[in-house]
Amino acid sequence: METTYLRWYESALKVINYVVQGSPRGKDFSEVVLAGMGGSGIVCDVIYTLLYDRSEIPVTVVKDFKPPSWVSSKTLVCGISYSGNTLETLNVVMKSLDLGAEVCVVSSGGKLVEIAKSRNVPHLIVDGGLLPRVAFPQLLIATIKVLDIYGIKLVDGFDKLLEVLNFKDLTIDVSKKLADFLKDSIPVIISNFRYYPLALRFKDELNENSKMMAKVEVIPEWAHNDIVGWEKLVDRNIIKALIIWDEDPIIEFAVDYLNESEVGVYILKLLGNDLLSKILYGSQIAGLTSTYLAEFRGIKADETKSIDRYKAFLRVKRSYLETII
Ligand code: F6R
Repeated sequence: METTYLRWYESALKVINYVVQGSPRGKDFSEVVLAGMGGSGIVCDVIYTLLYDRSEIPVTVVKDFKPPSWVSSKTLVCGISYSGNTLETLNVVMKSLDLGAEVCVVSSGGKLVEIAKSRNVPHLIVDGGLLPRVAFPQLLIATIKVLDIYGIKLVDGFDKLLEVLNFKDLTIDVSKKLADFLKDSIPVIISNFRYYPLALRFKDELNENSKMMAKVEVIPEWAHNDIVGWEKLVDRNIIKALIIWDEDPIIEFAVDYLNESEVGVYILKLLGNDLLSKILYGSQIAGLTSTYLAEFRGIKADETKSIDRYKAFLRVKRSYLETII
């Protein structure tokens, strides 16, 4: 998996030239829904964060089987599923189509692409054969491209953005140090609101690749509850704080506070010129760190048996499938 994470620059570059198939019905929407789970869903969180300061219309992320009740013909719904067979995402897409929403899709294939083709829905197909979490930059760029056809402009150009994925030696070095810091711990990843998708991505990578528990805390909400939990830790050696650095006085406050509580604190500074490039760089660090931790723990990073078990359970529970069969 290390090699695949290190090839992110090359695989992301390829997608820049992929073409969105199908034409949008229109460009005039009242709200946007981004739907996806796990390694695909994280793309929704990143797009949500990018749009938070610039969208004139509300944007919502859905990680469930149902779209919100207000979805209508005035809503743009973007469904993202690497496999194209994730039931939560398929259900949101199908129900949104039933409600008359404009739907677009990003996937490598599966039922989602079948639906997109048969319903003439704009879609972009990324390369298949990867684990969804490893396909992150491809899914992200594909989604940015699909949203662009609706007049939602998220980046000025891709080349500059992707440069951060090309500092391979540095990225490996930082990731090895971070893996060494996090080994044998329950990491608490702390970020501010801007970097929440990266904190979540870090947790997910530690869960899926390293088979470790981890939690995410977001500033300023962190300072209204979790902060108190550090006053009397059950075990100071097990809990470690990973802080996603940003020029933000509250992050500085958190660093000082946690240093005083005598737990291990690692401050992750990010390369990049803007929020998106920093998230991409941080995500590559997360992928590599979690892979090195898997090696350290003597486990297979690519196996996620418990997720497979959950998906098999869903397939048996046909009621979840009601709208797509
Ligand atoms: C597996 C992974 C999972 C999947 C999730 C949804 O690598 O990262 O979190 O992303 O189970 O599946 P897809 O992405 O195919 O919709």
